[in-house]
Amino acid sequence: MTELIVSYKSNNYKHEAFDLAQRLEVECLSHEESKEVEDHINVYFLIVNKSNHYLRKGLSRKYKPIFCNFSDWATNYSDPLLTKCLKGLPDGFRAVDTTAGFGKDALQIAKDIRCKNVTLIEKEPWMFHLLKDSYNKVEDNVTSVYVNKFKILNMDSKNFLDKNKEPYDLIYIDPMFSGVSKSKAKKTLQTLRELTTQNKQSNLLGAAIASLPRRVVVKRHKNSNHLEGRVPNYSISGKVVRYDIYNLNS
Ligand SMILES: C[S@@+](CC[C@H](N)C(=O)[O-])C[C@H]1O[C@@H](n2cnc3c(N)ncnc32)[C@H](O)[C@@H]1O
Repeated sequence: MTELIVSYKSNNYKHEAFDLAQRLEVECLSHEESKEVEDHINVYFLIVNKSNHYLRKGLSRKYKPIFCNFSDWATNYSDPLLTKCLKGLPDGFRAVDTTAGFGKDALQIAKDIRCKNVTLIEKEPWMFHLLKDSYNKVEDNVTSVYVNKFKILNMDSKNFLDKNKEPYDLIYIDPMFSGVSKSKAKKTLQTLRELTTQNKQSNLLGAAIASLPRRVVVKRHKNSNHLEGRVPNYSISGKVVRYDIYNLNS
């Protein structure tokens, strides 16, 4: 698996960087020390500084910072297909994103005016850290309205769902899918592929259905089989992705 190293550019952030590295159980290096890492092209550096903490693959400037860019996504991004999947949910609907990742889809759900809150669950500690860090640093009013609906948890969603007694309206699942070539996969997805441990047996969909929400939405590559072999009520397909909709209780 690709390596992750925490790094800091200014000594002002040395303690924060070391604390984080300890929590993530990875190495911590100053910017100068990072330059000495051999084969650093295969390393993701998690940079700790004043603004949003970010990931950078290698040290070359050609690799752009990767982080949860909530403010940009709030104004410059929209996924009309995912918006369509929310049609028919009640006013004040409550959602769980069981595979939060960078939180881009969770933000899209939170942008729906009828959405009351979204619980984001992420199992990878480094990804959870990036989510929380960006969440804490949102300053603009538009984005704040959306992220104020977030509750972010670092745990395995299977455990969350197995214990859940809340009547959620929407459970969202976006498992990592293959089928998109490395060159075409968005940088955030490529990063997730390289840094996350994939758990093929998690049975998230079965656990989601068993917790009896109104609806479960699963994001798939358009050519993928149905998750866990379960046939949805219907699907909404785009050029690359397909959303499978399981309506349980309307
Ligand atoms: C394809 S990504 C999701 C991308 C996300 N929809 C977004 O908008 O950025 C899948 C994410 O789910 C996380 N994940 C996978 N299985 C999980 C589980 N059982 N519990 C919690 N998180 C999980 C992975 O660590 C990864 O960050």
